[in-house]
Amino acid sequence: MARWVLATTLDRLVEGIPLLVSVEGEDVAVFRVGDEVYAIDDLCSHAQASLSEGEQRGYIIACPQHGGKFDIRSGRATRFPAVSSVRCYPVRLEGNAVLIDAEAW
Ligand code: FES
Repeated sequence: MARWVLATTLDRLVEGIPLLVSVEGEDVAVFRVGDEVYAIDDLCSHAQASLSEGEQRGYIIACPQHGGKFDIRSGRATRFPAVSSVRCYPVRLEGNAVLIDAEAW
């Protein structure tokens, strides 16, 4: 059963500029692509790096530490040295509110 919690608001999200938010103590990187919003774990699955500090190009975020890449739609690692996925959270938009399913963690 989903438990939707407020992560941020749509007007704080700029396309191509990841936003780090803390949701119930979890660091989550939130991304905007057009009218779509995606949320994944902020911590890279390879080592200690914040994915929200990486470079976003469309649906791909490049880790700032070693250049591993992830698809923000699924959390799937798409480029070495990142080989393990990061968690991807269901997102729901309600007006300006960006909600994340807290049951996903
Ligand atoms: S810490 Fe992200 S690719 Fe190494």
